[in-house]
Amino acid sequence: MTAVDDIKGRLDIMDVVSHYVGLQRSGRSYKAVCPFHSERTPSFFVFPERQSWRCFGACATGGDVFSFVMKVENLDFKEALARLAQQAGVQLQERRERDRADATIYEVNEAALEMFVELLDSRLAGGQARAYLEKRGLDQPTIDAFELGMSPGDGASLKGHLASRGYTQEHLALAGLVTQGRDGGYRDLFRGRLIFPIRDREGRLSGFGGRALGDGGPKYLNSPRTPVFDKSRILYAAHKAKEVARAQGLVIVEGYMDAIAAHQHGFANVVASMGTALTEHQVGLVHGLLGRGESTGGNRVVLALDPDVAGQEATLRSMESSWKVFQARAVSRSGGPTLYDRRQALTLMVASLPQGKDPDEVIREAPQEWEALVEGAVPLMDYLFAALSARLDLAAPQGKREMAELLAPMIYGTRDPFQQDYYFQRLASLLEVSEDALQASLGRLRASGGRRRAPTGRGNETQQASASPFSRMDHDPLEEQALALLLQHPELVTNGDASEPGAEWESPSTGGLRLEHFRRVENREVFTTLLKCSKLDVLREELDYEIAEHLDRILSKGLPPTDRKARAEELRFCVRRLEERHLREMNREEALRLSGEELTEHLEQGERILEINERLKNVLTEQRAGPAA
Ligand code: UTP
Ligand code: MN
Repeated sequence: MTAVDDIKGRLDIMDVVSHYVGLQRSGRSYKAVCPFHSERTPSFFVFPERQSWRCFGACATGGDVFSFVMKVENLDFKEALARLAQQAGVQLQERRERDRADATIYEVNEAALEMFVELLDSRLAGGQARAYLEKRGLDQPTIDAFELGMSPGDGASLKGHLASRGYTQEHLALAGLVTQGRDGGYRDLFRGRLIFPIRDREGRLSGFGGRALGDGGPKYLNSPRTPVFDKSRILYAAHKAKEVARAQGLVIVEGYMDAIAAHQHGFANVVASMGTALTEHQVGLVHGLLGRGESTGGNRVVLALDPDVAGQEATLRSMESSWKVFQARAVSRSGGPTLYDRRQALTLMVASLPQGKDPDEVIREAPQEWEALVEGAVPLMDYLFAALSARLDLAAPQGKREMAELLAPMIYGTRDPFQQDYYFQRLASLLEVSEDALQASLGRLRASGGRRRAPTGRGNETQQASASPFSRMDHDPLEEQALALLLQHPELVTNGDASEPGAEWESPSTGGLRLEHFRRVENREVFTTLLKCSKLDVLREELDYEIAEHLDRILSKGLPPTDRKARAEELRFCVRRLEERHLREMNREEALRLSGEELTEHLEQGERILEINERLKNVLTEQRAGPAA
C-alpha cells in the first residue's frame, strides 16, 4: 500500500473539511459555504460515502481529501502529504532514515563477509570448498577478486559472531542473514555453502548467493529481498564490468560461475542476470553502465544463450520481455536528449552457445571461441527471424500465421521507425505476402485482442498476462492507461511535431485529457506537472520521490504494440471513457446532493442533471461510433 492510500484509509474527509468550514447535514451529504469562492448560499458539498467533495458553484471543481487540503492551504503535493500523514498518524519514512537503515545492512553484510572469507581460507573448514573451486578452474587471484567465501555449517556461528560484534537480531534479520526456523528461533540462512558476495554497481555489499557443495537443499540460495537486495534489480559483477563496459559493451550471462570464469580470462565486460529474464530495472542498469559508450563496441548488449533453450517458448517470452523493457526504457529515463540519442543506439544482440555448454565451460576450454561467439552475436530480431524460421513450417499457412503473431508485437514495439519498417518488410517477404495483406491480418489480430500462441502450435490456449484491472485497489487502470499512452509516446504530447523521447514541447497536447478526469492524487500530480514542464526528462525531476516512483510504473507499463494512428485513437478512446466516468460521477453527486435539498431548489438542479445527461449522451454516442468500444 502506498502512503497515500494508507493516509486516505485512516482519515475521514468529514473531519478534515470540518476544520475549515461549518458543515451542515443535507440528506446523505453535507454542505457549506464554499471556502474557495465567496457566496451566500452553500454550493460546497462533502460526500462521506465517497470521501469526496465538490463545489457546484463558481469553482465547479471537486476531488478527494488531498486536493481539498492542497487547495485550501495552498500546499503542493509534498507538503500536503506531510501534513495529512501527520494527521493520520502515518509514518512517512524520511530519506535520511531509510539511508541509515540501508547503511546498517551494508555494514552487517561486510562483517558477515569477513567471516565467510576467513573460513574459506582456514585449513580445516575451507578445505572442501577450496577443492571445489579448484575443480571449477578458479585461480586464487579470482577467488580474492570476487571475495568468495564459505559459510559455517552449524547454523549458529555467523549469528554468534555478529552478535559479538554488536549486531542485534533485528540487524541480522533486516539483512536477511538469518532465517526463522519451525521452532520460531533464528538461525543462519547460509549453512555450509560456498558464498558469492553480491555487490551493487557502486560496490556496496547488498547480499549473497550461496552454492550448495553437497546435495542438500537448492543448488543456490540467495539473500531474501531486503531494502537493498532484490535479485531483479541487480546484475552480478556490474561493479567490476563498469570500467570496460563503456568501451566494449556488455555481455549478459546467467550464472555467477559464468561471470567469474569470464573475468578470470580477461573478459571483464561480463555480468550475470542471476538466472532470470532481464527486468526493467536491470535494463536501466545496463543503460547506466553503457551511458556514455562512445566507441564502437560500447553500444552492444549481448545475451549469451544456451541453444538448448533458445528456441523454447519460455526463452522466447523472456527475450520478448527483455526486448520490451529495452524499448520502453528509451523514453523513461531522465538524462537529456543527447544522452538519449546515444542510448537509442544500443542494440540487444544474441550470442548462441555451442550445444549443451555453459559460458563457463566454453571460456575455460577455448577462450578464443568465446570471443568469436560474442563477436558474431546478431541483433535479437535477426536471431528471432532465424530461430523461428527454423522451427516453424513457413510453407504452411499455419506456420506463417504463428510467425507473424510472434514477431509482430515486437516489430510494432520497435521505437525506431526505420527499423520497424525494415523488419516489417522482411517479415512480409519471408512469409511471401504483400505488406498490405500482412498489415491487414495483423490488424485483425489486434482487434481480436492480440491472441498469442506457443510457437509449437500445440494448444491454442490464450496466454494473456492481463491481471484483473481492479485486482489492486491502489491503482486506477484507466487513468494510468491514458497517462502511459501520453508519456510513452511523446508524439502525442508534442502533437505529432516530434516523436523522439527527448523532444521538448511548447505547450503539451493532452488529447482532451483534463485534470477532472483523474481520481487518484498521484495521477493528478503527474498530470499537472506534465502541463507545467517542457519535456519528459524535466517531468521526472519535478516530481516528489513517491510520485516519481509512480511515474516509473506508468512509464514501464506494457502497452499493446501499435502504430501511431492506432495510438492516437486509443488515447481518444481512453479520454472518452474517463469523460464518461467523470460525468457519471458528477451525476451521482448531484443526485446525492439533491436528496437533501428543498423541493423548490429542485428545478434548477434538475436542469443541471439534464445538462450533464446531455453531455453524457454525447460521449456515449461518440464512443459507439469510435473504435473497438
Ligand atoms: P545455473 O544453474 O546455470 O548456475 O543458474 P551456475 O552459476 O552456472 O552454477 P554452476 O555452474 O552450476 O555451479 C544460473 C543462475 O541462476 C541462479 C544463480 O544466480 C545462478 O548463478 N540460480 C540458479 C538460483 O538463484 N537458484 C538456483 O537454485 C539455481
Ligand atoms: Mn554453470
